[in-house]
Order: sequence, then structure tokens, then C-alpha cells
Amino acid sequence: MHRRGFLVAGLAAALSGPRALAQMKMDDMSNMDSMPGMGGHAGHDMGAMSQGAAALPEGEALRELPLLANEAGRPGLFKAKLTAAPATARFLADQDTPILAYNGISPGPLIEAYEGDRVEIAFANRIEGEPSTIHWHGMPVPPDQDGNPMDPVAAGADRVYAFDLPEGSAGSYWYHPHPHGRTAEQVYRGLAGAFVVKANADPVPAAYGDTVLMFTDLRLAADGSMPDSTMNDLMNGRVGDHVLVNGQKNPKLAVAMGQRRRLRLYNATNARFLRLAFANAAMTVIGSDGGLLEKPVAADEILLSPAERVELVVAFDRPGRATLTTLDYDRGWMGPGRPADAGLTLLTVDVSATAGQAMPPLPERLRPIAPLGQPAVSRRLVFTETMAMNATGMEMGFLINGKAFDMERVDIVARAGETELWEIVNLADMDHPFHLHGTQFQVIGRERGGKVSKPPYLAWKDTVNVARGETVRLITRQERPGPRMYHCHILEHEQLGMMGIVDVRA
Ligand code: C2O
Ligand code: CU
Ligand code: CU
Repeated sequence: MHRRGFLVAGLAAALSGPRALAQMKMDDMSNMDSMPGMGGHAGHDMGAMSQGAAALPEGEALRELPLLANEAGRPGLFKAKLTAAPATARFLADQDTPILAYNGISPGPLIEAYEGDRVEIAFANRIEGEPSTIHWHGMPVPPDQDGNPMDPVAAGADRVYAFDLPEGSAGSYWYHPHPHGRTAEQVYRGLAGAFVVKANADPVPAAYGDTVLMFTDLRLAADGSMPDSTMNDLMNGRVGDHVLVNGQKNPKLAVAMGQRRRLRLYNATNARFLRLAFANAAMTVIGSDGGLLEKPVAADEILLSPAERVELVVAFDRPGRATLTTLDYDRGWMGPGRPADAGLTLLTVDVSATAGQAMPPLPERLRPIAPLGQPAVSRRLVFTETMAMNATGMEMGFLINGKAFDMERVDIVARAGETELWEIVNLADMDHPFHLHGTQFQVIGRERGGKVSKPPYLAWKDTVNVARGETVRLITRQERPGPRMYHCHILEHEQLGMMGIVDVRA
């Protein structure tokens, strides 16, 4: 019941930036009596949530994400159209589910381009009555091309996003909407896609293939629709009833014994933490959010917080069945209804009894990563949560340095090309995955309960989980002038204020 202390503290706190706070009517708060600190017991049933989740078909052949066709017709240019619009999906055999989709599908089409390419994507927002944007998560695109909430594309309007992919930028990025106050809903309704920048000289053997596995999270009502978010969803972030891989529940993949596969895992859920293990297969981490590591690292398990990606080589050396499953992870759930995290099977791989063709080995060195070096400036960002009851309902705030997001306010002024140390301090009761736009950073240390640790290897990251009570130190540098967002990537928290603007000046 340590939440009680938190709630009382929240009541005492002054809530700034009321526009960014959630305001719920008492009528909507049917679950309130079962929340700790409000007279109920934890672990109680949740009423609307997670009750009688419909069974989804499992075991279909894994669908590779369809590629977005390049209309350029000349090398060095990637040119295409993306339209965000309502569509329907068939999750249940006999029911259509209204969704939002890019070019009619969710996840959206896979964009594959090369280092050195120019990218021009014409975006059409055909979502009725809602502004949208396309944000290129993790990519080094100019601020005015990055789909910031300050640059909305109105319902029915069009715009072109144009940028160049620099040498050395190969990595596993993604795209999703970022309109003010609507990001969380547009994403869980279906708007997200993968953007893979390929290297011109790739050290990973082509024989391993290259497969994107995009995890999304789905909640379906009995009538096949996606229910609106509840109070609980706003607090903890919306977690669904089904984790999908490329839109399918526990799909099947067949491989020959001895095969190695290159898999890019994306956590594109709003708020679900995925602690993953591969039973009967060996995982080697070869890349992070922003591309390859220096050398491969064997791993028994991986924690992928919302928006993080990891690149793996998986060796299927034992015949039979290999499964990608989830392990328990306590990220500090508030109130009742903590989802059952452990024991979900996300992907089933059938490994043949006879060996396939011999596979080339993975090289011992993948690429060099230069440390970002000595910071000229250091900054401290403190995450807190506040919560208060008032006459009309409950207000929640997710704050950075005591403030909720304000589009009109610049929180940090930085200099282009200058190296900075950012210290992300999580004083809240939940884990918050921190994300910074426009660049890739390097985590240099973590501290929790007085224990300081260094990461085991250098990696390019744009999102890092900051566990409750933890401090993460990272080194970052922005190259281009203009405003950049930083925020918690639990999208409901971003929406409720846990976001800020760093204005990069020349
Ligand atoms: Cu994935 Cu501000 O975004
Ligand atoms: Cu981003
Ligand atoms: Cu958060």
C-alpha cells in the first residue's frame, strides 16, 4: 500500500499546466473504489478491462511487413506516399475492427531505404476531424521535417516530409503520429510502421535474412471494436489484451535446423514492457535503436521498454519448437489490473529435424562506435507524478522538473554540435522510458539505491528505460538548429505532460 503515501503527496503538490492534466468525471471512474489508497484492495478485478478478452486465432504463418514501394525510379531517392485514414482489420474471424491505418494496413508498410538516400514522403491526413503528423522516431531528420506537435497536418490536408539519410545512419527506426494530445490514441488505433535504414556495406551475412518483428498491443471489446481508454489506461499507459507481432497473434515461422536469422524487434506498444526470452534458440544482440553494436553480445533475455528496438541474430540449432516468450517484469503498476506479463508466447518457430545449408559465421567486429566524449554542459531532468482529487474528478500529472508540457515554452536551450550530459532522474513510482528526438545518444551510467553501474557495451540509443528510483546518465549531441521533443514514451504519460522542448540554436 505504498501508493497511499504517493497519493497524499500528490494531493499536496501544486499542479501546474492544468491544460495538460487529465480530467475525468466521477461517473467514468467506476473502478475508483478498488484502487489502493482509495479504500479498495490491489489485485481486484478491473471491470471493463481485460474481462473476457476474445480469443484471437494463433499459429498462422508469420507475415513479413509489406514494403512501401519506392516510386522514384532513380537511385539515391526514396519517394512514396503515406496516407493515414480509417480502415478495418480482421482480428476476429467474423468481425471487422475499425482501426486507423497507413495505406490501409496496420502496422504500416515497411520503409526500406539506404544510407545516403534522399527521402521524400508525401503525407495525406485523411483522419476525419483530427490533426496528425508523421514523426520519424530516432532518425536524424531536420526539426521542421520531424512531425513535431508544433507542425500539425490538419484533417484533410497534405504535406511532404523530405530529408537525407547520412552515411553511418543505418538502423531500426520507426514512424508514428505525434499530434498534440492525440498521439496515444492514434498509435493504439493502428498508426505505426517500421523504417529500416540499410547500410551500403553490411557486415551481417545476407544469408541470415532481415526480418522486422513489430510488437503492438490490442484490446478488443466483445463487438470487435477498440474500447476508449479508461482512467487506468491514462495512469499506467494503455496495455491491451493481446500482444501482436506484425499484426498477428503468436504467428508461426518455419526454419531449417542450423539456420541463423536476423530479427529486428520493435516495441511499438503504447505502454507494455516486454521482457523477452527465446526458448530453444540462442540470441545474440547485434544492434540497438540506432544500428549495430561494435561486436555481438550473447543474451539470455532482453528488456524492451515502449519504443525501444533491438537487433538480434537468433541461432536455431535444436530441432523442434523454439518460442519467443515474455518473462515477468515489475515496472511499477499503479492500482489494480496489473496485466499478466509473464508466459505470453509471441512467436513460435518450428525448427526442422534435418539440417539446412551451412550458414556463414557472424563477424567478430560489426562496426566502430566512437564515444561521444566530454560534455560541455550538464543537465538534470527529474520525473515525478502527481495526482489529486477535486470536485470534478481526479487530476493526474506526469511532470519533468515539476512542469507539464507546454507547446509555447522552451525548456532547454542547447547549442548545435555541443556535447551534453543529461541526467534523467526518476523520482516517480513507475518506470518511464525516456526518449529524445533528432539524434542518438550513449548511456554512460545508471544509479539506483546508491549503486552505480556502467552499461556493458557502447550503443546508440534514442529511448532508454529509467526505472522508478533510478538515474540514467547519457551523453548526447544535436547537430541541427531547431526545436526537439523529449518525453516519456508511455504515450499516455507524454500526453499528460511528461514532455519538454529542447531548442537547439546555431
Ligand atoms: Cu516515438 Cu516523440 O516519439
Ligand atoms: Cu521520437
Ligand atoms: Cu511514463
